[in-house]
Amino acid sequence: LNLEGQTFMQAIVRDISIRKRMEKSEREARLLAETLRETALSLTSTLELDELLDRILENLEKVVPASACNVMLVEDGMVRVVRARGYRERGYMPTEGITFPLNSTRNLLNIAETGRALIIPRLEEYSDWVRIPGTEWMQSYAGAPILVKGELVGFLNLDGDRPDQFSEEDGERLQLFADQVAVAFANAQLYRQTQRLLHRLEAINHISNVLRPAQTLDDLLNRLLTETLHLLETQDGAIWMYDSSRDELRIAIAAGWQTRLRPFALKPGESIAGNVYLRREVYLTHDLKEDPLNALMIRRVVPERTGGVFVPVQSGVQTLGVFAITLPAGKPVQPDDVSLLAALGEMGGSAIQRMRLHDEMRMHIQRLEMLHRVDTEVLKNANLNDTLRMALELIHETLQVDVAVIRLYNPDTQLLELAASFGMGMVEPAIPPGEYLAGKAALERHTARFWRGDPNISPEWEELVRREGLEMAFALPLIAHGELVGTLGVAMRSLFHPNREWEDFLDTVAGQLALAIQSHRLVEQLRRSNQELLLAYDTTIEGWSRAMDLRDRETEGHTQRVTQLTLKLAQRMGITGQALTHLRRGALLHDIGKMGVPDAILHKPGPLTDEEWQVMRQHPVYAIDMLSSIEYLKPALDIPGFHHEKWDGSGYPYGLKGEAIPLGARIFAVVDVYDALTSDRPYRKAWTREKTLEYIREQAGKHFDPRVVEAFLKMMEEEGS
Ligand code: C2E
Ligand code: SIN
Ligand code: SIN
Ligand code: FE
Ligand code: FE
Repeated sequence: LNLEGQTFMQAIVRDISIRKRMEKSEREARLLAETLRETALSLTSTLELDELLDRILENLEKVVPASACNVMLVEDGMVRVVRARGYRERGYMPTEGITFPLNSTRNLLNIAETGRALIIPRLEEYSDWVRIPGTEWMQSYAGAPILVKGELVGFLNLDGDRPDQFSEEDGERLQLFADQVAVAFANAQLYRQTQRLLHRLEAINHISNVLRPAQTLDDLLNRLLTETLHLLETQDGAIWMYDSSRDELRIAIAAGWQTRLRPFALKPGESIAGNVYLRREVYLTHDLKEDPLNALMIRRVVPERTGGVFVPVQSGVQTLGVFAITLPAGKPVQPDDVSLLAALGEMGGSAIQRMRLHDEMRMHIQRLEMLHRVDTEVLKNANLNDTLRMALELIHETLQVDVAVIRLYNPDTQLLELAASFGMGMVEPAIPPGEYLAGKAALERHTARFWRGDPNISPEWEELVRREGLEMAFALPLIAHGELVGTLGVAMRSLFHPNREWEDFLDTVAGQLALAIQSHRLVEQLRRSNQELLLAYDTTIEGWSRAMDLRDRETEGHTQRVTQLTLKLAQRMGITGQALTHLRRGALLHDIGKMGVPDAILHKPGPLTDEEWQVMRQHPVYAIDMLSSIEYLKPALDIPGFHHEKWDGSGYPYGLKGEAIPLGARIFAVVDVYDALTSDRPYRKAWTREKTLEYIREQAGKHFDPRVVEAFLKMMEEEGS
């Protein structure tokens, strides 16, 4: 548009100088001005280049009567006639499409060199005129350069059927029209670019619509790959995902020949995918087989002459994997494909990240619920066998193992006796410590692991593994109060990569089972054991809250501090007993809802936009969604759900006012804001203690319950002195 304005300006300047010289012919001048205005108007009303050029040539003829005229384009030293007018009528077949080298015609070279219009009054006197058969009628010529941003892109030519047909002024007018053609070219280019951008936007929009309803990570990856392949019109692609517990990339989903790469695992930095993962840069290659960056093992599998685009799959600052799309021979990678794929990599990344958090949360809740159910069973069921059977069922559901065996240690026989199992064809009724995997765990009082190919394997265990077709197994000693009470064995029949969390949970389950077994055995100690169970819950909760602090890197230690301070303040305000336990759990989990807030928002260094605030304000709602399914946490929901309500009713998410806000949340709000303000945040530096206390005093009756503020300030004062 800028270019259009500039050229139009030039046109007007020239128009004025021409007017001066043409005072003698006002009528002609008016015609020129009108024609130019009409031409300029058509530039803004139509975007079809051919149609525009026709319009320009037509208008040109009105002000400079010629016998024929044409527009030529220059590209890489070749000249091509793109639009022509008036030749057919003169028996010379249309010149459109004709291509010839620029340096084969002296007249065009001359124009190109001077950058100015050229008039040849008599062709026969111009010795280098190359006459094409059928153009004998041409007697005179006028041509002008078409310049876009000072660069020659073509010529506007007039041919006359009599000598001296074109004057100097005609040359000037011709140049005016050549400038209009330049604008038309520039516009057409802009238009094409806009079309490409639009096309890309549409593609992205389409894919994001397709991804949204995905229910599982696999489903999501599948949709992402399928749609992308469709869009780029190829059959071969893969998504490599990074597994942090093994520090390697593996294919999560593949199509076409890339399915052959499934068995490979790449370290970050290894092969093309590993490099793209590490450097977070797009990589383009025209021949995967010849590319030295590609690992040899992969090069052996790649088909001949296959090009590829690799883009990182990212979510915010985190790289999750690599998107690899390959294109068959003869279908070169287009720059548009690359930028489209890069955008899809990012879009896929954030969708994957959300899905993962969601899954993780669901798993956490499911597991906590399971712990709770085991606990309730222990209290309800006098029968130990029922409890163990139920525990196995829950292990099956939550840990997805094929086999599980619980053994109880009998101190009298000194054997591990079978108590409950599922998934095994044949189970030894009793084994001595030291034998099989379970016996090894019991003897060493340590988790024993087995995976296929493990060279340290005892003969009896090897025999069982072969018979049962086991791929991996874990055996854990069940130890309660330092005493061995049994073993828990689990095994899988297919390859499986357990992560640290999975193992942690298995440990927790073993701990719970040990306690359950012991509490059954020692009925008189049931109460004490139950307390241990609760401690185990609270350890789990503390583990989560530490994980949350870690995610929100800047607030490390925040949760522990606000929890301690909240309890202290609550006690000063007369809260006692069980209510304090609920407050403690609530404070530990107060921002668990931020698990549902994407990193890009949580870690944003600056202020949040309206939309980002909308997401952020949901975090208390997320917390209630997440925790309300856990019976024993229900009384602890006051803080996670209501810590952003304000005394004057201006808080969120419910806009509660005054004492409608639970007291625990009113107490907590003061402590949380105190700790937030005295800590560095990604979005601002820490305030001093004095400034913060002043602020809290000032907010009494607005943000905070005045009574809580009073107690808080008094407590801080006593602490400070
Ligand atoms: P947070 O950082 O844990 O802050 C908790 C509460 O402390 C805030 O709730 C607010 O009441 C108080 N607070 C924290 N910093 C300031 C401050 O600089 N000035 C004042 N007057 N009060 C402050 P709020 O505002 O509802 O925010 C909830 C959460 O939203 C924050 O938790 C933080 O994670 C996020 N957040 C708030 N503002 C921004 C921001 O400007 N940028 C980013 N990236 N995140 C923000
Ligand atoms: C890689 O080279 O890392 C990816 C394999 C491929 O698609 O060629
Ligand atoms: C068993 O206890 O019989 C085998 C299961 C195991 O050792 O993990
Ligand atoms: Fe919060
Ligand atoms: Fe907080």
